[in-house]
Amino acid sequence: MSNEAQIELVGVDKHYGQFHALKDISLTIEKGAFVALVGPSGCGKSTLLRSLAGLESITGGTMKIAGEVMNGVPPRKRDVAMVFQSYALYPHMRVAENLTYSLRLKGTPKDQALKAAEDVARTTGLSQLLGRFPRQLSGGQRQRVAMGRAIIRHPKAFLFDEPLSNLDAALRVHMRKEIRALHDRLGATSVYVTHDQVEAMTMADHVVVMRDGVIEQQGRPLDLYDKPASRFVAGFIGSPAMNFVPATVSEDGQGIVLDLPGASRLSLGRSLEPGRNVSAGLRPEHLTVTQTQEAALRLPVGVVESTGSVTYISSDTDPEITVVVHGRSPLSAGDTMGLSIAPENIHLFDVESDRAI
Ligand SMILES: Nc1ncnc2c1ncn2[C@@H]1O[C@H](COP(=O)(O)OP(=O)(O)OP(=O)(O)O)[C@@H](O)[C@H]1O
Ligand SMILES: [Mg+2]
Repeated sequence: MSNEAQIELVGVDKHYGQFHALKDISLTIEKGAFVALVGPSGCGKSTLLRSLAGLESITGGTMKIAGEVMNGVPPRKRDVAMVFQSYALYPHMRVAENLTYSLRLKGTPKDQALKAAEDVARTTGLSQLLGRFPRQLSGGQRQRVAMGRAIIRHPKAFLFDEPLSNLDAALRVHMRKEIRALHDRLGATSVYVTHDQVEAMTMADHVVVMRDGVIEQQGRPLDLYDKPASRFVAGFIGSPAMNFVPATVSEDGQGIVLDLPGASRLSLGRSLEPGRNVSAGLRPEHLTVTQTQEAALRLPVGVVESTGSVTYISSDTDPEITVVVHGRSPLSAGDTMGLSIAPENIHLFDVESDRAI
C-alpha cells in the first residue's frame, strides 16, 4: 500500500432540505486501502457513498478522487464503480453481455470487450456461466457478476453498499473473503458500507464508525475494539455487545463500585476523582467466571445458552450482564455466578458526554 491519497474528503456537508445528513466529514483513504463505513441505520453511510459516486451532490466541503476535485463532476466522469445490495443486473442479458455493457457503451469493439469479459470471468470464477441469464444464477453468482461488471471498468475506486445483505449467513462469510481477496489481487481501493460490525472488522484495514451524520471514530479494527473513544463505539464494536453498568469511583479513587446488587469494589489500576459517577463498560469475553468467595461480582444467573463452542450466560439483574465462556458451563438459571475482570479490561465513560475516560 502506498501513502498516496486516492480519496480525500475535507469538511464535507450534505443537506437534504432542512435535514443535515452529513456533518463536516473529513476522511482520507489511501491508494490500495480497504475502508469500511459502519453505523446504525440512517447514520449517513449510503449518503456518503452516493456522494462519492456523484449520485448525490454535496452542499459543502471538498471531495477529491486521485487528486482531482470531484465536486460537480457527473458520475460517469468520476471513474468509480458502485456495487449495490440489489445487484441490478440486466435480466434480459446473458452474463457476458452484463459484464461488457459498460465497455460497449463507451464504444469498445465487440471482440475486445468479449476478451475483457473472459478475463474478468476468470478472476471472479464465472467462466462457465458466461452464457447464462441472471435468473439461472444463485445469489452468490449474481453478486459475482455485479462485482465483475465493476472490475471490468478498472475504476479508481470500488464503492460497495451492503453488497452481501441478500445472501444467507454461510455465503456471506464466503463472499466477504472472496471480495477481500479480489481487492488484494487487483490492488484496488475499496470503500465498503455495512451495518454489520463483524463484516467491517474482518474485511477492512480501516474502519469508520458513523453516527447521525458524523464520524464518531476511525482507525484500525482492533484499535477501535481496544480503545473505543466513546460509549457509542464501545457498544457498537464487539459481539456480543459490551455490558454497561452505572458505577461510582471508590473513596480512595483507585477502584469503582458497580451499581449492582452483589457487586463489591473493582480495582482500576489508575486513580480517578473519588465519588465521581461513571459508566463502566465490561466486555462479555473479559469477564471470567470464578469461585464465588473470591469474586468481585456475585450475580444470580438468569439465562444460559450454549452453542457447543461457547456459552452465553446472562445475569438476572438490571442491567443484565452477559458473559461468554468457552465450551460449556455447569451453571444454570437460579445459581449464583462469581465474576472477575482484569483492571486493564475495564472501560470507563463519562456519564454526561459518553466519552471514554
Ligand atoms: N433523498 C433524501 N431526502 C431526504 N432525506 C434523505 C434522503 N436520502 C436519505 N435521507 C436521510 O438521510 C439519512 C441518512 O440516510 P442513509 O441512506 O445515508 O443512511 P444509511 O446509513 O445508509 O442507513 P441504512 O443502514 O438504513 O442503509 C436518513 O435519516 C435518511 O432518512
Ligand atoms: Mg444505506
